[in-house]
Amino acid sequence: ARITLRQLLDHAAEHDYGVPAFNINNMEQGLAIVEAAASVDAPVIIQASRGARGYANDIMLAKMIEALIEMYPDIPICMHQDHGNGEATCFSAIQYGFSSVMMDGSLEADAKTPASYDYNVAITARVAEVAHLVGASVEGELGVLGSLEHGTGEQEDGHGAEGVLSRDQLLTDPDQAVDFVMRTKVDALAIAMGTSHGAYKFSRKPDGEILSMKVIEEIHAKLPNTHLVMHGSSSVPQDLQDIFNANGGGMRQTFGVPVEEIVRGIKHGVRKVNIDTDCRLAMTGQFRRIATEFKDEFDPRKFLKPAMDAMRAVCKLRLEQFGTAGNA
Ligand code: G3H
Ligand code: 13P
Ligand code: NA
Ligand code: ZN
Repeated sequence: ARITLRQLLDHAAEHDYGVPAFNINNMEQGLAIVEAAASVDAPVIIQASRGARGYANDIMLAKMIEALIEMYPDIPICMHQDHGNGEATCFSAIQYGFSSVMMDGSLEADAKTPASYDYNVAITARVAEVAHLVGASVEGELGVLGSLEHGTGEQEDGHGAEGVLSRDQLLTDPDQAVDFVMRTKVDALAIAMGTSHGAYKFSRKPDGEILSMKVIEEIHAKLPNTHLVMHGSSSVPQDLQDIFNANGGGMRQTFGVPVEEIVRGIKHGVRKVNIDTDCRLAMTGQFRRIATEFKDEFDPRKFLKPAMDAMRAVCKLRLEQFGTAGNA
């Protein structure tokens, strides 16, 4: 059944669990996500980026989600716009049946420049006002995603700012977070704490210097009733890197966000955990493996089936680790 982000995260807060938000771009990812959720009796968030909407087509995406909800009527499914960059993106998502939108006003629309605080407050409040009138939820973002380790915004992939940023910009200020939530009335708040999008987050297992769980604890202490969102929360597991590289891949060694840190976050108000890279890596590792092991194979299903199996396994594991399982 369709559920809003607000309804889902309120339940998660009441019962002390977190909910992974997995990205969808095609049928195989949709099936992997919802089959995983059904297998452990968990609610789940499916999110589509602007890129996903362009890739799959809005009508196709909307019908796919409708199909998934119809196939699994007992699983609460929240369909969320990931990183909306303006009113048009957010409101069109709602028209296509999304029950939740992210208005990411941390960057200027269509630019990789950190936005002013006033811009972020104004546009997020406008989106929240309208979304709430039609029963949709809103996630806002305060602070800029980027590497605390290198002091840079994201340059290769993801949606963070480009160039060199200060520690100040890369960590959400707890007092400003209180003001932001009060003025925008968002249902959930994405915060910056040292994570970045994509595979290359950290060059070593992160400690408190480069992954600031302290910021989450401080914000949660000041905003105990606000649902917090962690972006860039793939763990980039070593075994998935190994499968990819053992089959002709050339990824350099990298470290993601350790699951135990996310679990710590969930104890301090984190309710939505965004994961895309782990799912991508699980799938493309299998594409490489099949291409390597079966050089005469040309049926795409022979690639997509193991890819779906691998993504379903990642989703199921996170639903168990975050305590989502059993809460459908
Ligand atoms: O926010 C980043 C997500 O991983 C989506 O990425 O914009 O390439 O679809 P994308
Ligand atoms: P990852 O790249 O760590 O999977 O982050 C995904 C994300 O934050 C989507 O909004
Ligand atoms: Na999002
Ligand atoms: Zn994100």
